[in-house]
Order: sequence, then structure tokens, then C-alpha cells
Amino acid sequence: MLEPHSSKKIVILGTGGTIAGLSALRNDNIAYQAAQLGVAALTAQIPDLAAHVAGFELVCEQVAQVDSKDMDTQVWLALAQRTLQALAQPDVQSVVITHGTDTIEETAFFLQSVLPAGKPVVLTCAMRPASALSPDGPANLRDALSVAMDVHAVGVLVVCAGVVHAAEHVQKVHPYRLDAFSSGEAGPLGWVEEARVRWVGLPLRRVLPAWDGKSLPASGPWPQVEIVMNHAGATGAVVQALVQAGVKGLVAAGTGNGSLSAPLAQALLQAKAAGVSVVRSTRCPLGQLIAGAESAIPLASVAGPVKARVALQLALMGLAPA
Ligand code: SIN
Repeated sequence: MLEPHSSKKIVILGTGGTIAGLSALRNDNIAYQAAQLGVAALTAQIPDLAAHVAGFELVCEQVAQVDSKDMDTQVWLALAQRTLQALAQPDVQSVVITHGTDTIEETAFFLQSVLPAGKPVVLTCAMRPASALSPDGPANLRDALSVAMDVHAVGVLVVCAGVVHAAEHVQKVHPYRLDAFSSGEAGPLGWVEEARVRWVGLPLRRVLPAWDGKSLPASGPWPQVEIVMNHAGATGAVVQALVQAGVKGLVAAGTGNGSLSAPLAQALLQAKAAGVSVVRSTRCPLGQLIAGAESAIPLASVAGPVKARVALQLALMGLAPA
């Protein structure tokens, strides 16, 4: 049984995204500028904010103001540092982060990989800009605050369209729909209904990373890790060019159970022989790779190539299991 957290502050960190976006025309949900409004202005869009968070003090801070397609390791480091500081304060119950939808799953996975597993960190986003006829950001942020106040919340979570996802499972699966995320076969952890969280099961069944407690990455460039995809007609040309450019790691997004065309497999093995760390993932959105006889290229430690890329970067920095 989880004990209620005794602290009463929620820190809300803004990073940009469509949730903070503005368009010239209210009915234009495509040609808008992401990352325009500050995070305090986003909270002001929640009509019943004071009543909703009664008993909690909100502290808003802007960590970045980016369209999340341009998310980078500098912002990640600043975000992780600020989140860690906030969570260390005894009076802080949780951290909420506003973020773009495009790379929220990578940021959530990174934070879960480097932060201690205790207090919740709840990321949220929007598929429509703040200026839209019916923006989804205010309701999503309100839902994220509901989760951040819930005594059962733990680890890094993503809340969108009333659904609570675990960082390790969430994927953006739709480019336009308001409910753009899925946790695949794992399913969501819960739903937010009229400001209450209905968890799928309690206590939450989550396998939080065993490397919790390790330090954050140092400032400075991270090892370059790229994703290469297998497809009909795939050659090894991209791999060869990346090796020439000094890449340190490669995630092969294979077809099916991680299969690779003969020329791509050969180029990856040559890269491995040259000292590049190579792991195998799959371009299939569901399921996970099943180890078989072919073991020259090891399976990635996490599902999905984009998260596997982050995991490999952290492993190359000694911050995650190899
Ligand atoms: C972004 O990811 O920052 C833009 C797209 C979005 O938030 O939906």
C-alpha cells in the first residue's frame, strides 16, 4: 500500500510544444507556431484551476520553449536537473512537464531512465494549439495535475486525452487525432475521469529501471547514435556513411523479428567490428523481439527504435546497462 505523499507543492515545468502554440486563425490546426506561450499562461487557461488544485501550491517555471521535433540533449539535461532538484524538496509532491507530442515519448523515457523512481513526474501535451477553437491543452494539463496529486502515481507518466501512459510503453501513433498515443499491448495505466484517476490496477505494476540512482549525464555532447531502418531494397550505404562520420552507436530497426537485408546486416557487422555499438530493434509498432539463433547483433534492451536509441546513448555513457 502506498502511503499518501505529505508534501503539497507541484512544480510545473514548461518546454514548449503545441500545447503552448498559437495560430493566426482559430480554425487552423496545422499552420501554427508551437512553443509561444509561457507555462504560467497555460495554467491560466484552466477555468477552475484554484478549486482543482485546492490544497496544493503550483510553481511554474519555463525550462525551454521549443517545438519538440527540435528537442535536444541540452534541454533534456536542464529538464532532468531541474526535475531532480524539485523532487528533492520535501514539500514538492510531484513535477508536471508540458511538452510537444512529437518526442514526448523519448523525453519521458530519458527522464525515467535517469531519475529516481519515487515521486511522480507527469508529462502532458496537446494536439491542438492553445488558440484553437477547442484546444485540448487545458483539459490535458488539468488531467496531468489530477495524476500529479494522486497518491498512487509513481515514476514518469504521460497524460493525454484522458489516458495515463507509462513512459516505457507510450508511443505517438497518430499525426492528428486528439487521442494520439497508445501504450500498445501493455495498455494504459489508467484514465482520468472528471478529475479522478481510475487506475487499471493497484498497486501499479511497473518495472522501473534498475539503474535508478545513477548520476545524470555530464554536460557536453552525447555519443552519436543513429537509427537505420531495414526495408525492401535496403543497402549498407547509410551505415557506411555513418561509420565514416564517426557514429558511436547504431540501432537497426529491422523488419518483423528484427530481420535485416543481407547487405544491411553485413554493413552493420562491419560497423560492429570497427567498434561501433550495434543493437537490433524492430520497426513493428507492437510486440517485442524474440531472441533467436542469430545473435551477432544483440537485441536492444527496450522496445521501439527511438527509445532503444536513448538507451544505447545512456549505456555508452555508463548510465544504463549495456
Ligand atoms: C511539438 O511536438 O512540439 C509539436 C507538435 C505537438 O506538440 O503536437
